[in-house]
Amino acid sequence: MNQKILVIGSSNTDMVVQVPRIPAPGETVLGSHFFIVSGGKGANQAVAAARTGAEVTFVACVADDAFGKQAIEGFRKDGIHTDYIKVQEGSHTGVALINVSEEGENSISVASGANSHLLPEDLRGISDAFKEAKIALAQLEIPLETIEFAAQMAEARGIPFILNPAPATALPDGLLEKVSILTPNETEAALLTGRTEVKDDQVEAIAHELLDKGIKTVIITLGSKGVYLCDSKTSERIPGYAVKAVDTTAAGDVFNGALAAVLATNHSMREAIDFAQRAAAISVTRRGAQPSAPFLHEVINFLV
Ligand code: RIB
Repeated sequence: MNQKILVIGSSNTDMVVQVPRIPAPGETVLGSHFFIVSGGKGANQAVAAARTGAEVTFVACVADDAFGKQAIEGFRKDGIHTDYIKVQEGSHTGVALINVSEEGENSISVASGANSHLLPEDLRGISDAFKEAKIALAQLEIPLETIEFAAQMAEARGIPFILNPAPATALPDGLLEKVSILTPNETEAALLTGRTEVKDDQVEAIAHELLDKGIKTVIITLGSKGVYLCDSKTSERIPGYAVKAVDTTAAGDVFNGALAAVLATNHSMREAIDFAQRAAAISVTRRGAQPSAPFLHEVINFLV
């Protein structure tokens, strides 16, 4: 039986331009292709979890515009429960402007729009969804008070709360101590521990600093270098899979969604990380956010 997971987060429409390199401030760079796809860290993670086998309920807010309708249609095609997606009048569905370079790197600016209308009171009526879920998963593209409330609800229902602290920002200790699994990248881990950057030899110390805040498991994602896993029993680097990247947009989202999907089925953390790394490796070989999220059979058949 598929396990239920609850994803609370953003939904955006991504407007993507392929550029030879990411423009510097004040610079105009002529790009090649342009495409519009569904994105948003919350939505990408919900889609990745659903495609890799979880039964997903997505809690989000879109506007009553064409992008909002398209997003909901897309979630339904992926079998995601959309009953708790709020439709906000007088706003616009979140939009992300994305440059993707020839090396597959990106720069992203987001106009949050309806995402900023997802409020704690919207979660009050959905305690059943928290009760039924095996795991709750959130990111930082919705208001912080909503994420704090989601963490409280997960704690009250006794289910693990995974927080992907993206985009990077400092967070209150009161929230971090409710987090079961924190999945920052290096930039986010640096910010959460009061640093401006992370040097390779500091990753272990930073993971322990985060653990000391009361988080049960810290997984620092290191891009092509794999992940650093730290909990009360282990502190180790786990290598990733080397692939030729064409677009790294949403690789972290695919990692998180797939990780949650596998953890909900009672597999070990090592198994879940390996599966999630395979899923993320596939995603960087494809363009766009949600279009890049692989299906279960693709991850199982992934050969390096
Ligand atoms: O993580 C990638 C996502 O960040 C994009 O889909 C974009 O919408 C922004 O939220």
